[in-house]
Amino acid sequence: MKTVRDFAAAKRQRRKIVVSTAYDAWSARLLVEAGVDCILVGDSAMMVVHGEKDTLGATVELMALHTQAVRRGAPELFIVADMPFLSVRKGKAHAATAAGTLLRAGAQAVKVEGVQGHLDVIAHLVESGIPVMGHLGLLPQSVNVLGGYPVQGRDTAGMARLQQAGAELQAAGAFATVLECVPHTLARIITRDLDIPTIGIGAGRDCDGQVLVFHDFLGLNPGFHPRFVRRFADGAALVLAGTKKYTAAVRSGKFPGPKESF
Ligand code: KIV
Repeated sequence: MKTVRDFAAAKRQRRKIVVSTAYDAWSARLLVEAGVDCILVGDSAMMVVHGEKDTLGATVELMALHTQAVRRGAPELFIVADMPFLSVRKGKAHAATAAGTLLRAGAQAVKVEGVQGHLDVIAHLVESGIPVMGHLGLLPQSVNVLGGYPVQGRDTAGMARLQQAGAELQAAGAFATVLECVPHTLARIITRDLDIPTIGIGAGRDCDGQVLVFHDFLGLNPGFHPRFVRRFADGAALVLAGTKKYTAAVRSGKFPGPKESF
């Protein structure tokens, strides 16, 4: 993906969109080599990189720093950066300044959680030349209101709310939306009804694309087993084995050897 138009084309042509998070240059480079379509610099960085229990501690400055690093590693890829907690709740000017910082750091678009109470801000960002990816369903920034990370849209009222939010997001000019932790049947309906692509996480296979957290699908986070994550590698075991070999080699005096010395 190079531009927002490629997202629209992928939906039209029924090509699945592959998105992974990244927070640094080297993993971004590997994602380019692996052929993903788009990188999300998610505020999940707070949890997977900074060891926090939720995403609320992310700031625009921190997201910009991660975005700069990812851009250096993936100069050719479409990069979306998360608008951190509360950054769209302080008015249009504040949101535009925050989003501008993320675009100047190297993102081509920002992702905004939810629509309720800030749809006008989303429209303002788009009108200001800032592409917006929506994020519907489970909103991790609302963890304290939700009391955790429950699946959304299970009942009739919840389903209707999410369908409505999708339509509003599209009308406000968003170019795509994440759908997080919603029943796959609902995700299928929303995906069918919207012209913009849906990028699912815990939303079943009928979304137009999928996103996962880099550390999750590579098994780098061994204690974390949500139902929607598939581990495509045992990254933790690999890193642990390599680090143990390094430790043993240093302790036994076998590293560095003559070839590694000047
Ligand atoms: O912050 C993040 O990584 C996200 C994805 C899980 C969609 O928002």
